[in-house]
Amino acid sequence: MKYAQTLGCMVAVILLSCGCLAKPSNRETVMENEKELDPAFILRWTVIEGTGDIEIEIQANCTGWTGISFAEGQIGQPGSYGDVIMGGFNDELQMGYSEDRHIALENPDPANGHLFDDSNDILLKSARYEEPWTIIRILRSLNTGDSQDIPIVPGPMTVSWTISPTDDTSSGHGSAGLSRVTFIPL
Ligand SMILES: *[C@@H]1O[C@H](CO)[C@@H](O)[C@H](O)[C@H]1NC(C)=O
Repeated sequence: MKYAQTLGCMVAVILLSCGCLAKPSNRETVMENEKELDPAFILRWTVIEGTGDIEIEIQANCTGWTGISFAEGQIGQPGSYGDVIMGGFNDELQMGYSEDRHIALENPDPANGHLFDDSNDILLKSARYEEPWTIIRILRSLNTGDSQDIPIVPGPMTVSWTISPTDDTSSGHGSAGLSRVTFIPL
């Protein structure tokens, strides 16, 4: 009995000292997938089992805002639409920021009307700048239920990426590009 108590106590001490009893929410999500959309833009993500959430990490070679948009329709054509996730790290304020937006992709530059969603459905988990990289992590539901968001579904999706030299999210981007990303295998 005494032995068992001592052992239990030891186990507890070991668990506490290695942080094994920390709440799951305090633990950093391991990024299970990675795709380089451009030498200046690396996308990582993990679909969090059992929650319907996805955590997305953007590592972008820029000092300002960066973002992705899930795109529908033919970009550059009328009616095309982008569900935008953007964010960055403001060095002056030493603070991360994120914005849930959408845009008509006929002319996909924020200067042409990057509108805020009525409902913000993204959560900024972390943001930092490690020269030359801005690295942000965003948590979102695969399907937010917001009609202004595009659900993340199995199979390849069209994703545009953007980087900017400024933290002013209403000003135009620097470089941008287009890629296909399979967040969830079919
Ligand atoms: C980041 O971008 C700058 C400016 O375009 C470039 O000179 C540099 O090589 C890039 N760094 C990395 C690690 O890609």
